[in-house]
Amino acid sequence: MLRALTALLLTIGLSGPALAQYVDPDVLQAPVAEGASEAAPRASTGGATTLEDILARQNGEVVDDSYRSENLGQDKPVYPTDSPLFTRGGPSDADLWRAMRYDEADIRTQNNGPASHTLIQDGGMRWLEFRSGPLLFWGAIGLGGTLAVLALFYLIRGKVKLDHAPQGRYIERFKAIERFAHWLLAASFITLGITGLLSLFGRKVFIPIFGHDAFAAVAGVTKWVHDNISWAFIIALVMIFVFWVAHNLPDRTDIKWILRGGGMFGGGHPPAKKFNAGQKLIFWSVIIFGTSISVSGLSMLFPFQINLFGHTFGLLNDIGAPGWFGQGPLPVNLAPQEEMQLAQLWHAILALVLTAIIFGHIYIGTLGMEGAFDAMGKGEVDVEWAREHHSIWAAEVEAETTPRRKV
Ligand code: HEM
Repeated sequence: MLRALTALLLTIGLSGPALAQYVDPDVLQAPVAEGASEAAPRASTGGATTLEDILARQNGEVVDDSYRSENLGQDKPVYPTDSPLFTRGGPSDADLWRAMRYDEADIRTQNNGPASHTLIQDGGMRWLEFRSGPLLFWGAIGLGGTLAVLALFYLIRGKVKLDHAPQGRYIERFKAIERFAHWLLAASFITLGITGLLSLFGRKVFIPIFGHDAFAAVAGVTKWVHDNISWAFIIALVMIFVFWVAHNLPDRTDIKWILRGGGMFGGGHPPAKKFNAGQKLIFWSVIIFGTSISVSGLSMLFPFQINLFGHTFGLLNDIGAPGWFGQGPLPVNLAPQEEMQLAQLWHAILALVLTAIIFGHIYIGTLGMEGAFDAMGKGEVDVEWAREHHSIWAAEVEAETTPRRKV
């Protein structure tokens, strides 16, 4: 009986890849069909897919499928576009399906875009499962967890107050153009964050509450806003990089600042220049993550035109990076759709991480620290605040200008 089942299974395997997706594990325990050799199991199927191939694929292993990818009937006249079927030997349907599977079929479509010739690719289900499973779960945990930690920190530590009373004399901290760039960055990031989260969590959260029609309308607007506001974010990112990069280069004061936990240990705030080490970390996170989010976003805005991953994986393979983590080489021949799937995941993961970091930043700029908001709100800060938080910078500015007294 088991043999009969095995034989049936092999027959199905030969008749077409779509039918060979699921194999009953009990059946897999059965010996392979009569005549099969251990050393060359492919002989048992006449050169086609074997049980071992199916099993390995279902286990997520990489299967050498050159026996299919190199068997596309190229030695026969091309079917169907260049010649009719011959009685004596046009390529068979199996050849044609294999050619489609490996992107070699001569397909004519109305849309001749870069991905229009790829009808079948591997990544779709993997992408969908990751996007609607772990990405949502860990994204929600990450953002929710960050908010919970900040709330706890506020309850324990409270607002960081000034050690001495403000003096009522002010020095300039940010010029109007710097504040414009910062608020353009902040407004665009918050808009992108809200619309991005709506796209990511909409199906799971919005549809069950408000229904499909309401979500369809919201999703249409959300996508338009997200796509178009992205330009404001990119422009603002370039502006703050140009304005502030010189103040964010690491130096020796940062080591002392970090060793004293930014003032958490050792009493009082450690000396700092215009930006302390914590702020430099925020700055470089925004620049590096923001750039990578922007580039992966652009590759989705212009689908299939900017392929980032196959090339990057090739470079990583060349330096042996996957081996450092005990992994085999990364795939370099990605289908155009797989490039887009990876761009979407990368974009979403980095955006979630940066959002968590920015939660911390917004907390310090508002609730967390007395006097901090003035720097970006009004552009000037009380001399006392400047001396306590950025002593080296305050001394430099005070040596050059006289603090302005407010009337
Ligand atoms: C409502 C939201 C926000 C508030 C209240 C806020 C507040 C502030 C304040 C007060 C400063 C100046 C700190 C100082 O004087 O030393 C600042 C700096 C900065 N902000 Fe924001 N910000 C917000 C949103 C954002 C967003 C969304 C981003 C980036 C995506 C961002 C990126 C930066 C950077 C890179 C700096 C300079 C480095 C630093 O001070 O940490 N901000 N922000």
